[in-house]
Amino acid sequence: MKYGYFDDNNKEYVIDRPDVPVSWTNYLGVNDLCTVISHNAGGYSFYKSTEHHRVTRFRQNGIPLDRPGHYVYIRDDETGEYWSVSWQPTGKDFTKAKYICRHGLSYSKFQCSYNDIEAEQTLFIPLGDDVELWDVNIKNTGSKPRKLSVFSYLEFSFHHVEIDNQNLQMSLYASGSNYGDGIIEYDFFYEPWTYHFFASNFNPDSYDCVRDSFIGNYRTETNPAALEQGRCSNSSELGGNHCGSLHKKIFLQPGENNRLIFMLGVGSREEKGKAIKQKYSNLQAVDSAFEDLKNYWIKKTSIFQCKTPHKGLDTMINIWTLYQAETCVVWSRFGSFVEVGGRVGLGYRDTSQDVMGVVHSNPEKTKFRIIQLLRGHTSMGYGLHLFDPDVFEPAENKLPGVKLPTVVPKQNIADIVHGMEDVCSDDALWLVASICEWVIENGELNFFDRVIPYADGGEGTVYEHIKKILDFSAKYIGANGICQGLRADWNDCLNLGGGESAMVSFQHYWAIEIFIDSAKQLGRKDDVIKYSKMAAKVKVACEKELWDGEWYIRGFTKKGIKIGTNKSEEGKIFLNAQSWAVYSGVASGERAEKCMDAVDKNLYSSYGIHLVLPAYSKPNDDIGYITRVYKGIKENASIFSHPNPWAVIAECKLGHGNTAMKFYDSILPYNQNDIIEIRQAEPYSYCQFIMGKDHSAHGRARHPWLTGTAAWFYTAVTKYILGIQPSYNGLKIDPCIPSDWNEFEVERKWRGAIYKIKVKNPEGVEKGVKSILLNGKNVNGVIPIQDKGTVNEVEVIMG
Ligand code: NOJ
Repeated sequence: MKYGYFDDNNKEYVIDRPDVPVSWTNYLGVNDLCTVISHNAGGYSFYKSTEHHRVTRFRQNGIPLDRPGHYVYIRDDETGEYWSVSWQPTGKDFTKAKYICRHGLSYSKFQCSYNDIEAEQTLFIPLGDDVELWDVNIKNTGSKPRKLSVFSYLEFSFHHVEIDNQNLQMSLYASGSNYGDGIIEYDFFYEPWTYHFFASNFNPDSYDCVRDSFIGNYRTETNPAALEQGRCSNSSELGGNHCGSLHKKIFLQPGENNRLIFMLGVGSREEKGKAIKQKYSNLQAVDSAFEDLKNYWIKKTSIFQCKTPHKGLDTMINIWTLYQAETCVVWSRFGSFVEVGGRVGLGYRDTSQDVMGVVHSNPEKTKFRIIQLLRGHTSMGYGLHLFDPDVFEPAENKLPGVKLPTVVPKQNIADIVHGMEDVCSDDALWLVASICEWVIENGELNFFDRVIPYADGGEGTVYEHIKKILDFSAKYIGANGICQGLRADWNDCLNLGGGESAMVSFQHYWAIEIFIDSAKQLGRKDDVIKYSKMAAKVKVACEKELWDGEWYIRGFTKKGIKIGTNKSEEGKIFLNAQSWAVYSGVASGERAEKCMDAVDKNLYSSYGIHLVLPAYSKPNDDIGYITRVYKGIKENASIFSHPNPWAVIAECKLGHGNTAMKFYDSILPYNQNDIIEIRQAEPYSYCQFIMGKDHSAHGRARHPWLTGTAAWFYTAVTKYILGIQPSYNGLKIDPCIPSDWNEFEVERKWRGAIYKIKVKNPEGVEKGVKSILLNGKNVNGVIPIQDKGTVNEVEVIMG
């Protein structure tokens, strides 16, 4: 069953059947103001943080789904009938009213056609202003003149996630609303940073600032009293729950249309509201803001564009996977319908990995994130697992503290620099690769010399920070010479403490090799020697201790018991131990082939590759929390999405283009567009996990958007399947494709030059490059970095 389709020309996903099984969301905003919005216009806005600076309210995990939202209602003033431009909240019979939602890049458009009225509501946040615009266009397509009323509706939040949900004896009386100059103003405790406004491009005929006046008693957003009355009650109050409803009566001749703009903004009426109202009352300003946003995404997506025989791959890589990876970097992992505030900041490992995927399309934000992460890096060498980067900001950049009587005081540095008991063994290792990738992409070698403080005092250059990361992993090894698991490794639920993690040792080897490449560039010969020895030692330990005969084990408990061995009853084989053995470069030859064959044989399914099998069924705290999670869910034998691209990369390293594509295809959301009754979640976004075969809902996907899967699949496809890899010396081209691909094309912008790459595969191979022509001349090895402003034709023959 399907609910929509991909519209590549407009870079949109179109939902033409609104009763989707779960909320299909989108993200508006690319700077400080964000709205997470569903296909039914349900959702919420926040400014910088989902914890504090919440703007509109959301009743998470509630019923009905996704309430409240950012709604526009239309009322026929002659009959009293009313409906909403999005299917919900009025939920009109969609066999009589036609509803379409178009999720685009940083905007969502709701379209409704009912009773000879066509209406459209486009929500977006302009690049330069902290305001969400609702561009509403209503057209009379019938033959009779129509008298209509248009109402907006949103519900303001009590600003802080905790205050919004608890101790209401305080918060209910701390918020106030007022109306003036056509603008609703809302504040909390009169604190300057809590002011929001709601305005429009018209003089309202009536308004409501008080939620309960608009909705009425014993009613919901589905049947608000104001819509029945045909006008708002001009309510405002100090205390209570507040909303933004502005009402306008319009008269439309047949064929006539009217465009209304609503503006939800951050700041007070005087400081921001009046100027914004004036600015966006000019429809040209709205159009050009929308155009700017479109161009913003055209610029980003044009850095890497591919044309291959695989339509779904093209759509996902050229548009959606990049968009998802960007979203994770911009908003971190803490604003969705699942992550709704309270847990905020930067997850060390998550952000480090997210950065890696978009160093080309977002050099500024990724650099900013890398610096934030380095400030959260300790002089001991480990990163702070989850931290508020604001704490390390110079005072003038900090968000205002929350000084309210009901709230826990703000954290300070001493509170958040945790000790060894909370260290995750993998966290900072990811950052090594992110930094090196960032430098290679952007060519700023002197970034390694930049001095950045340690979280616990003192400072070091970026280069020194990296060495501390690698030295930390070399120091914290267990009885078998493998890295200790500590609080957890990539797998949050594998809690091995002083036991050992194969994945981290593989990852350590990988990070050292990446660092050595940079150390060579910088001419640090001593470090090249020192770290080459370290890498060799890690490799020897891995090969000696971790091979199990058919595959690599996942580690040891602190009692020395092997995990992920053929002899285990449960948790026999883990994906990451195999993919990372190969991806890291530790495993080669027969072992590499065998362990990836074991993945295909034991873990593969038509919805993706399982993280581990068989699932654990008995709690075992020596292994960790994984043994207490239900079978087939999350870390306990689900198809955890994030590690799937590592398996694709591993197959590419082995030259198995057909298997790499089989793995890619199995989990590709695009491919599940027509089986939504199984997947349920959006087909344009990877989810955190998919229920595994030991679960009754095998194939159901959960937790969209905020997962490292997007960045890693972007890497897996662009760098390993299509094989376009920037390096210090130039552009390396080393594809690994299905043997039935005859050719593909990529246009890549890198360091100011354009490379138009045509790859031909006349012999139907999976890997191997026979010849490369750059602007008609033969090239051996990598393509040298070309001058800025040049357009270069590259022809690659595989064979
Ligand atoms: C989700 C967490 O955000 C991520 O850090 C972790 O690696 C995975 N779960 C696997 O446990």
